[in-house]
Amino acid sequence: MSEKVFPKDFIWGAATASYQIEGSPLADGAGPSIWHRFSHTSGNTYNGDTGDVADDHYNRYKEDIALMKELGLKAYRFSISWSRIFPNGKGKINEKGIDFYNRLVDELLKANITPFVTLYHWDLPAALQDLGGWTNRDIAYWYTDYTDYMFQRFGDRVKNWITLNEPWVMAFVGHFMGEHAPGMKDLYASFSVVHNQLRAHSKTVKAFREENIKEGKIGITLSNSSHDPATDSQEDKEAARLAHEWTNYPLFLNPIYKGEYPSGIKEHASEFLPHNYENDLEEIKEKIDFVGINYYSGDLVKLDTKSFLGGKTVERGLPKTEMGWEIYPEGFYKILKGVQEEYNPKEVYVTENGAAFDDKVVNQEVHDEKRIEYLKYHLEQALRAIQNGVTLKGYFVWSLLDNFEWAWGYSKRFGIVYVDYKTQKRIIKDSGEWYSQVIKNNSFEF
Ligand code: BGC
Repeated sequence: MSEKVFPKDFIWGAATASYQIEGSPLADGAGPSIWHRFSHTSGNTYNGDTGDVADDHYNRYKEDIALMKELGLKAYRFSISWSRIFPNGKGKINEKGIDFYNRLVDELLKANITPFVTLYHWDLPAALQDLGGWTNRDIAYWYTDYTDYMFQRFGDRVKNWITLNEPWVMAFVGHFMGEHAPGMKDLYASFSVVHNQLRAHSKTVKAFREENIKEGKIGITLSNSSHDPATDSQEDKEAARLAHEWTNYPLFLNPIYKGEYPSGIKEHASEFLPHNYENDLEEIKEKIDFVGINYYSGDLVKLDTKSFLGGKTVERGLPKTEMGWEIYPEGFYKILKGVQEEYNPKEVYVTENGAAFDDKVVNQEVHDEKRIEYLKYHLEQALRAIQNGVTLKGYFVWSLLDNFEWAWGYSKRFGIVYVDYKTQKRIIKDSGEWYSQVIKNNSFEF
């Protein structure tokens, strides 16, 4: 056993998202989001689950912040629900929505917990979807009007901002696979969503610079899984490379850092991008302060000429989480190292990492050893990344609380705190206790 010691000032946090925990989606004048609409349409979510109540965090935020304090969290990543602020996505402002996030931010600061705010975690105002949502070029303006207003209202207290959460998932799971809101199945729409999210992101970064927020930092959070070739063959290597460029950080960081889409996209998928997309690339290339990396799992990729970009995933017999995702900590290192080597960001944050397991309450306790193992092995790789030159400054476990796991409803639990959905009682799981010790010692035994 050895002690794994993290750098001084390492930021330990936990993450959540508005629609997944808040509940009361229409309270106090808020407008419906696309997730409200999608989850209320039958057949879209497991068991017909919706975010109507979720963790009732909208009413219990104080209790939840007390829990964060008890755990010793240094930072908390949450998202703002756009349609609480602008019920129609633009135009009329709902002060009561601002009030909620004011209360939340002030309570966090009182508890000495640094807020990291995600401006968009998939819950687009439904009124904007009626105008084409992310496929409409104007969304870059609608979004920046909203985000700029957030900087003005919260920038005195919130210093760390994330423009978009996992834009790949928004684009492809929401517009190509149809499994997430808005439930479309159109590859052309997906690529226009990629492109418009990039435009919206960069316009927002520019607006942020103009606001001149003291000590303010802005970045973007990207989804990743480690795609390794199934064999040494040239074909499988190429399939894995394309999967990486398409689904991981390069799809967004290449335009942001280099002003061009990755070569695989240019070669094989540019026909799906909006007409004259090249004209926007100069504007999209815009300096950011940090990159947010989300990582959960890995897979092996094999050539498959029938699937999009020519790859399919194959089993390699590794243990899996309750989501059916392979546990592959080594891939976490590869992703972190890769992002540093390819784009050399000033700072990197792990904005999500964690696992769903089949947790059981026994005598008011939850013994989730598997989650502790998962976290240990991944934190070991995060430390290895730091030791090998990655500018990793912080880590946010997904998630603080069990919550509404999108199309899976409440059937999957990712929290380090258990939520009994009938009573809303919270129980800190063993993994929460363990994480709390890691934070306290800034290290763990491995
Ligand atoms: C998302 C979270 C989600 C988690 C687990 C990420 O894709 O940002 O909202 O709950 O993964 O699926």
